Amino acid sequence: MAIPASLQKGLKLPAIAAPMFLVSGPDLVVETCNAGVIGTFPSLNQRTTEGYREWLQEIKSRLNPDAAAFGVNHIVHPTNPRLMADMMVSVEEKVPLIITSLGAVRDVVDAVHGYGGVVFHDIANVRHARKAAEAGVDGLILVANGAGGHAGVVHPFALIEEVRTFFSGTLILSGCISTGRDIAATRMLGADFAYLGTRFISTDESMAQQGYKEMIVEAGASDITYTPAVSGIPANFLTPSLIANGIDPKSLPDHKLDMADEAKAWKTVWSAGQGAGGVHDILPTAQLVARLKSEYRQAADDFAKADTFV
Ligand SMILES: Cc1cc2nc3c(=O)[nH]c(=O)nc-3n(C[C@H](O)[C@H](O)[C@H](O)COP(=O)(O)O)c2cc1C
Repeated sequence: MAIPASLQKGLKLPAIAAPMFLVSGPDLVVETCNAGVIGTFPSLNQRTTEGYREWLQEIKSRLNPDAAAFGVNHIVHPTNPRLMADMMVSVEEKVPLIITSLGAVRDVVDAVHGYGGVVFHDIANVRHARKAAEAGVDGLILVANGAGGHAGVVHPFALIEEVRTFFSGTLILSGCISTGRDIAATRMLGADFAYLGTRFISTDESMAQQGYKEMIVEAGASDITYTPAVSGIPANFLTPSLIANGIDPKSLPDHKLDMADEAKAWKTVWSAGQGAGGVHDILPTAQLVARLKSEYRQAADDFAKADTFV
């Protein structure tokens, strides 16, 4: 269990604001990092590789000297034609944290290690975790049941326990983490970092539409539908947004609906995890992080003082 030294700089809470398609951009990343939590975004949130480079340069110019590190997500899959070009920009700009999805590849890991960067890879099952460990990644993001986006179906306790038996790198737990108390619980489970997606959608700086942010505030776990119909891969979506797009959540196919391209699908049908039930407001990111820190400390104090079994 360890947080890589290069990611400890400026870190005030063991948490990462997860990369989210069409949601995370420079404003969210800068506010998150300046508040002491690692901020991230998918390179594909910019339409071109050049645009991606501009975002990196903007982010670097807006970070305070004592900001936490930032990271970028790359989809490592043949369906991503920008992978090589975007990766070259990441190497040139020395992005501190690279988050790979779908494919864990030794060449990518070596390229990032070459400039002193760190690679975390996200997995939703133990088989993929083993493959990524073999590719030499520094950390594994365990995407558990109920997470926003392409979620897994394994319970977080089960996932972390199994992965720990063969992987000694950094462990990052993802799925339904919405409060500082939840972050403390992930540390209690032996994770190094908590990975928060849904909670950061409902912030002033996220790029999500206002109606999307509000729908998360209104939603509970029972308003989330897990289906491959939107993206081809099973993912969690806000049931009211399926209904708003004329999709009946009670009769979903087990394959992708004909919904134009991926970006259009995610723009109209909104993804969130079951942790939406723990999101009660839309607020500035700096305030959210301050609250997460105080809840984290309170949870640790409560445990130390009030748990009579310790
Ligand atoms: C709207 C949305 C878009 C997402 N897009 C991506 C993405 O582009 N790349 C990625 O690695 N993960 C993506 N994710 C998954 C998150 O990085 C993270 O694993 C997840 O949101 C954590 O679960 P939580 O939402 O319950 O906190 C997305 C999640 C959401 C909600």
